[in-house]
Parts: sequence; C-alpha cells; structure tokens
Amino acid sequence: MENIALRVEELLSKMTVREKIGQLNQPETPTEKTIEEFKALVRKGEVGSILMSVGATAGNDAQGAISNEFYNEIQRIAVEESPNGIPILFGRDVIHGHHTVFPIPLGMAASFNDELVKKSYSDIASEASAESVHWTFTPMLDLARDPRWGRIIEGTGEDPYVGARVAESVVKGLQGENLSDKGNMIACAKHYIGYGASEGGRDYHRTEITDYSLFNYYLPAFRSAVKAGVKTVMSSFNDISGQPITSSSYYLTDILRGKLGFDGFVVSDYDAVIQLKKQGVARDNADCAKMALNAGLDMDMHDFCYLDNLEKLIESGEVSEETLNESVRRILTVKMEKGLFENPYCYGGEYDKIVHLKDAEDLATESIVLLKNENNLLPLSKSANISLVGPYATEKRSLLGSWCIDGKTDGMDNLLDIMRKTCEGKLYYSCGYGLGWDSSAKNSYLSDVVVMALGESWSCTGEARAVSDISLPPEQIALIKKIKSTGKKIVGILFCGRPIAMQEISDDLDAIIYAWHPGSCGAQAVCNVLFGDVSPSGKLPVTLPKLATHIPLYYNVTSSGRPVNCYYNENPANCYVDSVPTPCYPFGFGLSYTEFKYGETKIDNDKISLDEVLNGKKIKVSVSLENIGDFDAKETVQIYLRTPVAKWMRPLRELKGYQKVSLNKGEKTEIIFEIGAEELGYYSPQGEFIVEKGIREIYVGENCLIENKKEITIC
Ligand code: GLC
Repeated sequence: MENIALRVEELLSKMTVREKIGQLNQPETPTEKTIEEFKALVRKGEVGSILMSVGATAGNDAQGAISNEFYNEIQRIAVEESPNGIPILFGRDVIHGHHTVFPIPLGMAASFNDELVKKSYSDIASEASAESVHWTFTPMLDLARDPRWGRIIEGTGEDPYVGARVAESVVKGLQGENLSDKGNMIACAKHYIGYGASEGGRDYHRTEITDYSLFNYYLPAFRSAVKAGVKTVMSSFNDISGQPITSSSYYLTDILRGKLGFDGFVVSDYDAVIQLKKQGVARDNADCAKMALNAGLDMDMHDFCYLDNLEKLIESGEVSEETLNESVRRILTVKMEKGLFENPYCYGGEYDKIVHLKDAEDLATESIVLLKNENNLLPLSKSANISLVGPYATEKRSLLGSWCIDGKTDGMDNLLDIMRKTCEGKLYYSCGYGLGWDSSAKNSYLSDVVVMALGESWSCTGEARAVSDISLPPEQIALIKKIKSTGKKIVGILFCGRPIAMQEISDDLDAIIYAWHPGSCGAQAVCNVLFGDVSPSGKLPVTLPKLATHIPLYYNVTSSGRPVNCYYNENPANCYVDSVPTPCYPFGFGLSYTEFKYGETKIDNDKISLDEVLNGKKIKVSVSLENIGDFDAKETVQIYLRTPVAKWMRPLRELKGYQKVSLNKGEKTEIIFEIGAEELGYYSPQGEFIVEKGIREIYVGENCLIENKKEITIC
C-alpha cells in the first residue's frame, strides 16, 4: 500500500489540472459516429473510466457485445498516447451474471447460502473480466419494503442483516483475495443511500429517512460492504428529506467516510450530477459540478459535467485543487490496486462454463421458496400424468430477469423443454388461453395433476419499472380459476421478480413454488424441486403481502401505542376495517419436503452484565435440529431478537443470525449462535452504537413469526 501511495503522489505531481479532471470523467461507450472524437479525448487524458454500455437504463435495453479488440485499442491510446499513460477503468453492469445468468439478486438472497452466492460472484467475475470488464456496479444494497418499486428485484429485500451478509459475499466473490489477480473485478456498493425508500415505490422519487432509520436499516449493508473491502460506492439519484445524495457532504463524506471508514472512490449514478438542477439545488452546470465534488463525489458518470466545468471552478478558487487531488488520488489508488498499470489490456480468460452453469443451477435451486404444499402434493412423481398449463411454460427471456446485459436465451431450456426430458408419464402442454383452453381442460381431465407456469414479465421489473398493481396479470388469475374448475390439484410455479400480492391466488393453488427470475438454468432448478431431486430450501428475504394496498408491510417494524401493524396479528380490529394486513407469507418463511424438529432453545447464561457485553463476552444460544422426515434437506435456522424496552423504539423482531445446514433424513445436529454487543446494540439517531441494560427476547426457528420466546437480561 505504501508503494501505491508513493506512485500516486509521483503521478499526481506530473498531471495538469485538466488531466486530473480527466480521471474523474466517465463517458459511456462511444458509437461509430463519436469514436474519433472519443479517441481524441482519450489522447488528451480526459477519460478516466468508460461505462461499457449505451443509455440511461442499461438493464432494460439491449447492449452490444463486448469486443476486447475495441477496448484494447482505446486502452492502447490511453497508455501510449496520453500525457501520463494512465490506463482507463472499464465498468459495466454485471449485476447477476455475465454470459451465465444467475438468479436475480432478490432470488439469490432467498437462498441464504452465503458460500454459494460468493462462489457465484467469483464465477461472474471470471466471465466478465475475460471481456475487458475491470469493474462492475454491484452489489445493489438498497433495503426495500415497497414491491411496487421495480428495483426491489436487484437488492436483498427488507432486512439489514441479510443485506449485510450478502454484501460481504458479493464483494469478496468479485474482488477475491487479491484484487489484481486475473479473474477478479472491482465491486461497487450501490445505490448509496436510501434509494429503496422512493415514495410510493415510484422510481427516482423523493425519500424521507430519519437518521435513526438510516443507521439501523439502510446503512448496515453498506457498512458490511466497506468492512469487506469494497473499492467503490455509487451514490444514488434520490434525495433524503430535501438533500440530494449527489451533493451531500453529510452523507457522502461525514457518514460514508467518517462513520463507515470508506476509503475507495464514489461514482455518481448516470447523469446524477447534472440532474441537481432538476432537483432544484443548483442553478447551472458549474453549480452542479462544484456541489458534487465538494460533497465528496469523485467520478462523474456520463454527463461530462466535471470535465466541462471544474477547470474554471479551480481557477476561480470555488473548488480547491486539493479537493480535486483527493478525488484523483482515490481513483488512481483503485486503478493501481487493480493492477491496471501492469495489465491494462485484456486477452480473454479461462473459465469452466459447465461449472458456472452448475453453480447457477444450484443457486437457482436453493433460491426457490416452497410457499404451500397441501397434503404433500409435492414432490410429483416423474411417472405421473401431468398437464402443464400457462404462459411461462415456454418463457425464456423473463427467466433471465432484468439487468442481464450479456445473458442471452440462446441454448437455454424453458420449463416445457426440461419437463419433456424429465417426465416418464404423459405430459400434456397447452398455454391455456383462447382456443388452448379446450385442450387445457381436456388435458387436465386426463392428468393426475396440473402444473401452472405463471409469472411476471422481466420488462415489469428493474429500473424505471415501478408498477401500481403487484398482482399477477388478470388473464393468469382467470386461468387459475378456470383450471380450478376442473377439480384437479394445481401446482403453481411463480416466475416472479418482485414480491406479488398473493391473496387472489394462494387459496386456489394446492402447492406454490416461488421461483423468482431464476436465470439461465432456472427451468432445470424448478424441475429439481418439482420432482423431489432436491428438497426446496429457500426462505423469503421479503414479505409477500395479501394485497398491494397493504404496502408497506415488513417484518422488522416497530410497535406503537395502540398496536396496529398486524404483522404479528396483534389487534387486527385496529387495522383496516375492510381487511387485515397480516402477511400472506412472512419474512424468513419457506417450506421443505422433509420435517425438521426444533429442540428447546438453550441459553448458556440468561443474565450478563453490560460491562461483560461491552468487553466482548457473548451469550451462547443453541438449539437442536433433527430431520425427522423422509427427505434429505437443508434448513436455514434463524435467530431473532426483540428489545421490548429501549431509549428509542426497537422493531418487534430483528434478524440477528442465520445458519443454513444440510441434514440427511434421520440426522440431528446442534446449531449454536453467539450473541454479543453487535447483536444486542443499535444506533442512536446520532449514529452512536449503544448497548443498553434490560431484557432481550430471543426467538430461534424457521421464520420471523416463531413464538418460542426465551429471555436474557443485561444488567
Ligand atoms: C443506472 C442505474 C445504476 C447503473 C448505472 C449504469 O441508471 O441506476 O444502477 O449502474 O445507471 O448503468
């Protein structure tokens, strides 16, 4: 590190102000029309990084394939023809896969399998880095409670602890042990901060987040990413209570660097600097550039606002050259840590695509959540006569989800393909609509069971894709009703990105598999579970509400003087007069084919002094877990905490740990959690971590609604 600091200073001392500003400039990939003008900029040292895509919503629009030759040529100009030969950093949205597409991040979070998520991002990094990508804009760590927001699919759901665990897995998977090793990529924790609280679930909308909520709900995942060594952070479009993040030194410097200790660099979101005018805090582009750089925003994505305005601002003294130098230092340091100066070019890379596809299938399989299984209808026998009905039986593109820029459906199987390979009985298929209804009805009568392949289009999820109605499309709901009228048992497979409102369908389906948008191998993953080759082990990282009108509905809610939130079914009469907003399926929920027997929760000492806690002593909480069913299976054991009395109101449940264990039928094990200051404390509105005396309620089990309470006292 010492060597890098010296190299950075030496380089900095040779750079003109304009070249320094050039390092802060991140244009997007040039087109044929602009390539020569672009190369001229590179030659002048005025391009520090390239956003390897075209357009403001890269996840929604088809992007061109990557050509190493193209990027090597641009890099050659930077290295050989620019004043100081500083290599360019190539960044791309490799969000949940490159050519091999893994489940959408919300699905990955449902796997609760940290090791598999980490391994998957190591696979992803090896694929993308073989195609000139040094830096990806992931993990997305926006805590979200409103499924109307299309970007809920990109994150880890409604819980800060799950966000923190996933953040660590993704950062370590992408950056590896040594960032400069071939096959590793620079990670980017985004969108800092609070974007997931966009009002009404409408993308890019305003947010209201108190510091108390910020420190306890929205920051933990970013704190974890920083602790895991993330090298970059992307600032978010939103404002918090009238203060745009893009121009806020409070959030970008005081908190991100002061409280979290982040020492990498911050990149803006697309055009976010120049959009400060639209947010009504800047008069002109010069104002935008001055406010953002002075706030601590180092790199300007796409709008050229820094390159066009900072030189004059430095000449006039409105921005100090030392402020500029600080941002340049951060960017040069990351480039040197990546080894870019030693290896600026890309000549491909080796990786085993078969292994990646297997990892993608395993992660998709483990992300699947079994919500309902009446009379153990599932798993199905491969020799059963099955009627497969519904529009997602032949769907491929939506299974890849949003933000799969380099993932294609070529060579991908859909559910019908896999079922045709798997089923040994009669398999009838019909889309179920229009004229297809007659054959669907006939097939259903001829079959032992109906499998309905339903879901949500990828194009209703992701950026700028908020919806006001989170139900399944009406034609799919109607189809369920029709199939129900045949009297046959129905298995519903839901290929949904976001959480959907379940009330209208959950009663009519005898079994429900929530498959998310599961990626390239999603259809195989669903069949692995459908026919019992693997017992489902996913758990919900986000609440599934009965109705969209119950939003927001999240498990880690605080109580109130007159309990009205109903999540824990307290005082339903006080909720809506026309419906009770209890969750249809709660956070942490997911069924298995086997039966797990939880023993009594044991606590090694239920009284501990505050001093002991502050000095690092921990409480051991243990529970026996036995697989008393007929299937080998995995279970995610969760430990929740409640602080019934505190200086500030605390949530009714807080997830403080989880362990996913594999138990063959008949096997038994003991799960041990250690509870210490980190689990027992929380942040004050001033961001001070505090542990208070008093009682803590401990709940250990299979989801957030477990009632087997134990108590410990901090005295
Ligand atoms: C988009 C997204 C961000 C993405 C960036 C580059 O607007 O908000 O997540 O990384 O621009 O495509």
